[in-house]
Amino acid sequence: HKRYNITLLPGDGIGPEVISVAKDVLKLAGSQEGIEFRFQEMPVGGAALDLTGVPLPEETLSVAKQSDAVLLGAIGGYKWDNNEKHLKPETGLLQLRAGLGVFANLRPATVLPQLVDSSTLKKEVAEGVDLMVVRELTGGIYFGKPRGFGTNEKGEEIGFNTEVYATYEIDRIAHVAFETARKRRGKLCSVDKANVLEASMLWRKRVTMVASEYPDIELSHMYVDNAAMQLIRDPKQFDTIVTNNIFGDILSDEASMLTGSIGMLPSASLGESGPGLFEPIHGSAPDIAGQNKANPLATVLSAAMLLRYGLGEENAAKRIENAVMETLDKGFRTGDIFSSGKGLGFEGSLLFLPWGRSLRPNVSS
Ligand code: NAD
Ligand code: IPM
Ligand code: MN
Repeated sequence: HKRYNITLLPGDGIGPEVISVAKDVLKLAGSQEGIEFRFQEMPVGGAALDLTGVPLPEETLSVAKQSDAVLLGAIGGYKWDNNEKHLKPETGLLQLRAGLGVFANLRPATVLPQLVDSSTLKKEVAEGVDLMVVRELTGGIYFGKPRGFGTNEKGEEIGFNTEVYATYEIDRIAHVAFETARKRRGKLCSVDKANVLEASMLWRKRVTMVASEYPDIELSHMYVDNAAMQLIRDPKQFDTIVTNNIFGDILSDEASMLTGSIGMLPSASLGESGPGLFEPIHGSAPDIAGQNKANPLATVLSAAMLLRYGLGEENAAKRIENAVMETLDKGFRTGDIFSSGKGLGFEGSLLFLPWGRSLRPNVSS
């Protein structure tokens, strides 16, 4: 009997809704594989602000660090949008990523055959898309200094940030990306803005240097504006994409729409050691929170990534992925992936129950 300690960070908005489904699914998949989970729920984001006055309480970080893996829902909401920077829910999430040292964020975008018609792209463009965005997560403009507010020569108020990457940060994410490409189809596209930005010029130089250790991988470089266009024009040209923190944030939201919905995209954030952080790429979706409309599959698939990348429990991960496929085969759809004439549409508060019911029996089959 294997035992793992999992930190659950439900957060805000739809976070608690999607975490509760993912927790049930983890429990069941675990029980089928002789795995026992001990869950500890801790506050983060707006929920933590309301409870403790800070977006990442020390205790949350220390519990997370001591656990085997961390599963997060989402953070943020209107209520805290005008808070000072250090009191924003988003700051708590960035502190958590930095605190866990999870510099490599894997964001797979796979167009499932059941959902080809949910994509806003033509069937022949979307069908068969299977790509992985490797996003650098603890550097770049999100963390670069100097940053802040001030005044310019004319006395006008300014806000400023710095895009900065050191060689070690580029090299380590490049290694993760080449290794990822090696396990996939052997193609890596590095996305940057090396025609304008010094940080990108260094990025391109180091990625090219690291490539010499991976002669079996076909490396290409692309500017981010072109990459944004190519993702829509011909997404099947991509296998693995490696990019910086902010470009990865934007391109992965864009890639999510190839699959039909941002409610489908999971992620794994990994460091050199210690527990990984697993979270859907979407946010707290305050516009649909509390209405049982949220698609829980991005979080459920993040739980599968937790099992695979965080715990090395491949069989349990597969069980969850199979359960998702069976659920979709049966026609269950939340509103975001419902396309008329395909499957059974569920609206409003009815949504959540069919998901829960259909996922549970299927995990064991
Ligand atoms: P969002 O991802 O929360 O929502 C964008 C749109 O997608 C909304 O219309 C929402 O209803 C929809 N959507 C998102 N997830 C969905 C799901 N699972 N099922 C169905 N529909 C879904 O992005 P936003 O509106 O720009 O941001 C809202 C808040 O979330 C902000 O406070 C932002 O800072 C925060 N945020 C947090 C994270 C995170 O926790 N990792 C990520 C992104 C945004
Ligand atoms: C994400 C989010 C976060 C990011 C925000 C909420 C800090 O958009 O996880 O993609 O920009 O990384
Ligand atoms: Mn984002």
